Amino acid sequence: MKTHEQWTSKLGFILAAAGSAIGLGAIWKFPYMAGTNGGAIFFLFFILLTIFVGAPILIAEFLIGRNSQKDAIRAYQKLAPGTKWHYIGGAGVIFSFILLSFYSVVGGWILSYLGRSITGSLSNANYGELFNEIIANPIEVVVCQFIFMIMTIMVVKGGVQKGIERASKYMMPALFLLFIILAIRSLTLEGAGAGIEFLLKPDFSALTAETILLALGQAFFTLSVGISVMVTYASYLSKSENIVKSAFSVAGLNILICFLAGIVIFPAVFALGFEPGQGPGLVFVVLPAVFNEMAFGSVFLFIFLVLLLFATLTSAFSILEIVVAVLVKDEKEKRGKLAWISGLLIFLVGVPSALSFGVFSEVQLFGKSIFDAADFLVSNIGLPLGALFISLFVGYRLPRNLVKEELSMGTNGLGIFYDIWYFSIRFVVPIAIAVVFLQSIGLL
Ligand code: PHE
Repeated sequence: MKTHEQWTSKLGFILAAAGSAIGLGAIWKFPYMAGTNGGAIFFLFFILLTIFVGAPILIAEFLIGRNSQKDAIRAYQKLAPGTKWHYIGGAGVIFSFILLSFYSVVGGWILSYLGRSITGSLSNANYGELFNEIIANPIEVVVCQFIFMIMTIMVVKGGVQKGIERASKYMMPALFLLFIILAIRSLTLEGAGAGIEFLLKPDFSALTAETILLALGQAFFTLSVGISVMVTYASYLSKSENIVKSAFSVAGLNILICFLAGIVIFPAVFALGFEPGQGPGLVFVVLPAVFNEMAFGSVFLFIFLVLLLFATLTSAFSILEIVVAVLVKDEKEKRGKLAWISGLLIFLVGVPSALSFGVFSEVQLFGKSIFDAADFLVSNIGLPLGALFISLFVGYRLPRNLVKEELSMGTNGLGIFYDIWYFSIRFVVPIAIAVVFLQSIGLL
């Protein structure tokens, strides 16, 4: 008897996991983080940390979820009964809550832009001013954030499997295609070369411990690891899938989308005279300007915003799903109600973040705006520490034979790769995270 829902196909799982991974992290956050942190040097460390630290953790989360077939807290309880390891999942749920509270704010910005692209007010505007105007408007940001959360709740309450699987099959390739068209336009703008150099030619003198911590946080953020979201998704995965391959497909796709986002944004930034280090508005300011340089630009911009909204929603589903899955336990009939309650609570918690570019712009937490403080707390503290404990859990707590067996399922044997991964998860990953983390808070 099947007691737990499952993805309907192999592609379904990869699409859902990639859907969780690919979202604002790659398309909105990566360009502005690279833009404010030295460009190529940030990109280089982001790639290295994704491959050598993020991907092994992704494999570890998949393993925990698939083996236990449980939600983020019960997975650890089942695998290590009577211990405190399930706090990893508990912390994951709390951080997911905070994450979605500000993620939905950016989701709301996309909706604002979408509305404007329909009315035509996005062509030939002063994009910098427009963006600042939108994010400072208290009613608009909160209403749009609310609509975004409602959309998220509506899908999650019905169970993520059906909706996401079907839609992802078409939307993700479409997003990819549009990015390629955009990249061509951006690269052929006059003066684009400076942007390519900015993205691809690292300046090692700009390297700091802070840059590496931010790149690490970015790697975890884009891969959706550290808060057991991927544990939850993999709990719906059947035993016949190869999780190692899935993890590398997700990581590879993710790097590719970040690269494409960078190759669209930076050439345009330099060619059109924008500032790479302007922060969270970068994509919202530069992209409409690129579309403005294209034939049928407003149509393309509309399509792009729909696809970006979709990519953002598929990530938001996964974040709400972890919270709902923990609350629902086995009482499926409560799912709808719990999705509404937790979704609306997340919205309320997110309102101050939404307002932090306008009415609350003076409020500072640890020297940052509310929005930035929430992001820093999740991306640079919650995700790295969560990932650290997940690596210790899999590396030292789980029995070796369980780990090896689970990873080998659906493969023809992993050979030397297994040993490399196991060594990484025991030594390389935890040491790397600890060093980067301690360095950046000044303890090392
Ligand atoms: N990976 C998502 C993105 O890049 C964000 C996310 C982080 C989702 C952590 C789930 C968990 O947009």
